[in-house]
Amino acid sequence: MNEQLRTPLTDMLNIDFPIIQAPMFLVSNTKMLIEASSSGITGCVPALNYRTIDEFRNAMIHLKSNCSGPFGVNLIVNNFNTKMKDQLDVCVNIGVDYIITSLGNPKSTIDACREKGIKVFCDVVNLEYAKKVESLGADAVIAVNNLAGGHLGPMSPEELIPLLVSNCSIPVISAGGVSNGLQLKKMLELGACGVSIGTPFIATHESHVSDDYKQAIVDYGADDIVVTDRISGSKCTIINTPYVRSIGLKANRLEKFLFKNKWLKKYFKMFRWFKGTRMFEKSAFAATYKTVWCAGPSLEGVDSIRHVSQVVTDLLAPFMREDGN
Ligand SMILES: Cc1cc2nc3c(=O)[nH]c(=O)nc-3n(C[C@H](O)[C@H](O)[C@H](O)COP(=O)(O)O)c2cc1C
Repeated sequence: MNEQLRTPLTDMLNIDFPIIQAPMFLVSNTKMLIEASSSGITGCVPALNYRTIDEFRNAMIHLKSNCSGPFGVNLIVNNFNTKMKDQLDVCVNIGVDYIITSLGNPKSTIDACREKGIKVFCDVVNLEYAKKVESLGADAVIAVNNLAGGHLGPMSPEELIPLLVSNCSIPVISAGGVSNGLQLKKMLELGACGVSIGTPFIATHESHVSDDYKQAIVDYGADDIVVTDRISGSKCTIINTPYVRSIGLKANRLEKFLFKNKWLKKYFKMFRWFKGTRMFEKSAFAATYKTVWCAGPSLEGVDSIRHVSQVVTDLLAPFMREDGN
């Protein structure tokens, strides 16, 4: 076993390789998580991928009996997620292995998980927030960099990882920009104890998104990824499809007014969030001329639609060569 692959993340979760198959809205599913665990890594699914609490609970029960290793759940912990408390209760009662929190204050999640021994990893994009979640008792931070798919951060991995590693005492997991083994190696060398990888797993046989979406991950390149806040109200990476080009990336004058208005901004943000969610949903599963596909620049390294296990094998290739295996 290559020593570089044994890290605080592999020890904490008891997995073979320091890789999390990242939570992806609409994309992650139980099949992918089961395959991830039998490939020696771990997968995480957003609770919001399930419409009802019963569906979510059933998925967790299915994972509990079918995953050969640990699995995680992503909770959106801001007040747009009206099901947050019920989702957390299911996670605690079923006993998921870890939770990744995003977009809000993770305190109630950390407090509820501590006594049950469920690990909590918190998405952060800067040192200030990393110190905050560390003081709340997070088990690790997920350092979301400016190459990440979805809601990206402002800093490069070269800036963000060493900054967090030298100022925090909890492990740092890097998210963004990894689609091959050399990039994985680089993140570990920068001080990360593991990586959370999303985009490359969209183009897998186990993912349930449309064939067009998977093929787009193969066909488009890093230059085709653009950042916009027009879809969900927060900055998010999407593929620059003809439809995206037609609507433009910047908020129009009315949207800017509504985003800034003291009384209306809260409602407008919520409206945008729900409207954006619907748009992503329509594009992910069926053909529509309003195609909005979320992905990060790491799609550059995806040349074919593979099985989850093959993505993992390819990521580990440089380490195995070093081992002579
Ligand atoms: C299609 C897509 C959906 C995502 N949905 C979520 C989500 O629901 N919750 C979350 O915390 N992060 C989400 N992310 C971010 C990922 O968890 C992860 O941080 C990111 O994919 C890492 O960058 P990469 O795509 O370059 O691997 C999403 C990313 C993508 C590409």
